Amino acid sequence: MTFNALKEKGMPLEKQIKSWHDIVKRPYKRMDVDCYTRTRQILMNGIETEAWGFKHCFARKCEDNELKSILAKIRRIEDMQQTTVNWLSPVNQTVLDTTLGYEQVAIDLTAWLAQNEPDEYVKETFDFGLLEDFDHLYRYSQWAYLYEGTNPDDILQGMTDVVIGRPTQNHHNDNVIRLRKHYDKNTASAQTKVNILTLVSGEQQTHNYYAEHGFMYGNDDLKKTYAEICDVEEEHVTMYESLIDPSETALEKWLIHEFTEVCNYYNCYTDEVDKRLKLIWEELLSMEIEHLHIAADLIKKHEKRDPEEIIGTEIVLPCHFESQKEYVTNILENEVGKRLDENMDYTTIDKLKDDWASYDVQEAVADKGAPSEKAVQLSIATLGRDIVCADKKLVKKQSGLLEKGLERKAQAPNTVSVADYERMDNVEIYDFEEEI
Ligand SMILES: [Fe+2]
Ligand SMILES: [Fe+2]
Ligand SMILES: [Fe+2]
Ligand SMILES: [Fe+2]
Repeated sequence: MTFNALKEKGMPLEKQIKSWHDIVKRPYKRMDVDCYTRTRQILMNGIETEAWGFKHCFARKCEDNELKSILAKIRRIEDMQQTTVNWLSPVNQTVLDTTLGYEQVAIDLTAWLAQNEPDEYVKETFDFGLLEDFDHLYRYSQWAYLYEGTNPDDILQGMTDVVIGRPTQNHHNDNVIRLRKHYDKNTASAQTKVNILTLVSGEQQTHNYYAEHGFMYGNDDLKKTYAEICDVEEEHVTMYESLIDPSETALEKWLIHEFTEVCNYYNCYTDEVDKRLKLIWEELLSMEIEHLHIAADLIKKHEKRDPEEIIGTEIVLPCHFESQKEYVTNILENEVGKRLDENMDYTTIDKLKDDWASYDVQEAVADKGAPSEKAVQLSIATLGRDIVCADKKLVKKQSGLLEKGLERKAQAPNTVSVADYERMDNVEIYDFEEEI
């Protein structure tokens, strides 16, 4: 693979302003779309939102009028691109359907990034976050069935497992201990920089989606589940963004943003199975190549630096989607009991001190019960057990996973216990395909 984006030709900026007719495209079909076409679309919406938001933050601190003008011009394009991408969602895809798609992105993207991450500490952080989004998918899947009668596999298409992960009630941490050590901009690879920014963008979008849609359901417990998981996504943004070297200059960050957009669209374009969307990714890629050239010229002019020293000479692949069941199961079985320690590192439940910083937060938020536990309680009340979509062998391991993954202290009063999961083993798994 040889693709040096700095040497490719992009679409001139003046041609990037499109008509509304071209900006708003026909949505994909809820049931026909390949699940990984949907995950690409969800992720690229997050990438565009970050590209737009970053340029606003930069402009607010920028005194140079030339830079401000270029930021304003490109920012409008980012915004139009965001509309194009996000509005590919069909109107009959419910908020819960889309939510399952968001968590599928988080799981399968993070697993891919972890396996393609050269920095061991960054990889460990990806693996840590992975098990939390994995549990979110399990909790939301209960609601997809309870509230809308949806088979989670209508959305996930059998590519991502639905079973318990690190229990969501244990994801609420003191936000200070979420902070991680950052990479060194002088030694980190372009792959590390792009991997992290890709994940930050995805997690931030997930947070925003829950924050802006959770209230759209009238059911109190469902609404509170969105509030609970939305707060965890805030922690995820805090965690992943803290991996970025804060001493990168604003122009350097701009360059990395455009490069991240180029890499992600390139990856979408090469992987896409839907012919129409492939053309859309191709066009957006050519627009981003031009943005990258502009950012590269500015860093040469203002900082006398060679952009290749920052982003290298090769494209990186930050968003290849494929089933990651085997990888995720392995992390689940080995790292479900992992926790954040107070020295920006990791520990395990058995080593937590009684005054561990996160206990106070966990006690406060789960004081009247955890909505994420209520979701499973409600499935048990309706079906005698939880909704799961996975190989029976993995489903049988749920009580053991909970035994290893649940903290003994600061538990929500409505926690579904290990004994409850053992009892569920004797109840038939709900079969969505069964003919009545
Ligand atoms: Fe963009
Ligand atoms: Fe999540
Ligand atoms: Fe997340
Ligand atoms: Fe861009």
